[in-house]
Amino acid sequence: MRNKITVIGAGHVGESVAFNCARMGLGDVVLVDVVEGMPQGKALDMFESSPVEGFDSNIIGTNFYSDTEGSDIIVMTAGLPRKPGMSRDDLLYKNLEIVEDCIGHAAAGSPDAIIIMVTNPLDAMCEAARRVTGFPRERVFGMAGILDSARMRSFIALELGVSVKDTHAFVLGGHGDTMVPLARYSTVAGIPITKLIPEDRVEAIIERTRKGGGEIVALLKTGSAYYAPALAVAEMVDAILNDRHKILPCAAFLQGEYGINDLYVGVPIQLGRKGMEKIVEIDLTDDENEALQKSAAAVKELIDLFPQKAPA
Ligand code: NAI
Ligand code: 2OP
Repeated sequence: MRNKITVIGAGHVGESVAFNCARMGLGDVVLVDVVEGMPQGKALDMFESSPVEGFDSNIIGTNFYSDTEGSDIIVMTAGLPRKPGMSRDDLLYKNLEIVEDCIGHAAAGSPDAIIIMVTNPLDAMCEAARRVTGFPRERVFGMAGILDSARMRSFIALELGVSVKDTHAFVLGGHGDTMVPLARYSTVAGIPITKLIPEDRVEAIIERTRKGGGEIVALLKTGSAYYAPALAVAEMVDAILNDRHKILPCAAFLQGEYGINDLYVGVPIQLGRKGMEKIVEIDLTDDENEALQKSAAAVKELIDLFPQKAPA
């Protein structure tokens, strides 16, 4: 039987995730959005490309969660981007409502699904999904670290004029200004970049990585990045559905790891068919640890803004 992948939100990121998953033959794809006709139209267009490429995935678009029942994976991309005049908190509340509604409906029909969150603010939205589903942390995590690391890898490759394939980078922490790009664990063909690139240029790469999302928003003027984010999600879907036991930086719910409790923060995790198989802990210097704890505190600030609900 084919795997079933539901992608909620058929905007820039969602449509690209759907198309990548279909082209990679990862399973049949259901693309959901509130806008009538739009996910259906995009899905039909993608399906009609399949004979050209030669992929066999079925792709449907829908406005109904009944079509998503029995999904193996749910990717959540629905949400609003920040608009002029909108505070970070306004975005938090609006997207919290959307996440609770969409994930609540989708999880009800797919109680065994693995959820990959993408909607921003990412780490806080992971927590919203965990709370609304009651799923274990092994089946609710978020995409950000692969994107942030891919940005850092691109900048390292540009700096040294080497193939991106030779580069490796690690970015920990929340998906925001406080993320922690780790130069010590970032390498080119196994050689730490600190041995290959002067300190001031390493700092410049770190700074550009931290501001990578904003750099694209400033250029696009409307909307944010989606090509790299969507491929990063597809890498996670592939690692899960093909049981690759791959170690990737993702937003995971920490329960004591890295000295952090009950918070989603970006760390290396191992992904396989059951979802998150383990959290990989690496040694950090005092400075790196301090930066990670600061990043975790920024995530906690957002979680503390969640409206308090009366116990059921
Ligand atoms: P977009 O505006 O192109 O698409 C969002 C889609 O969500 C729209 O089609 C909209 O109709 C849909 N939507 C809104 N409310 C809905 C609901 N209740 N049910 C179903 N669909 C609904 O935005 P884009 O560029 O696709 O980004 C989506 C989200 O992903 C944003 O929150 C963005 O900040 C985030 N993002 C996160 C990244 C990460 O690294 N975690 C990277 C890139 C984007
Ligand atoms: C990014 O980093 C918007 O979170 C998104 O591009």
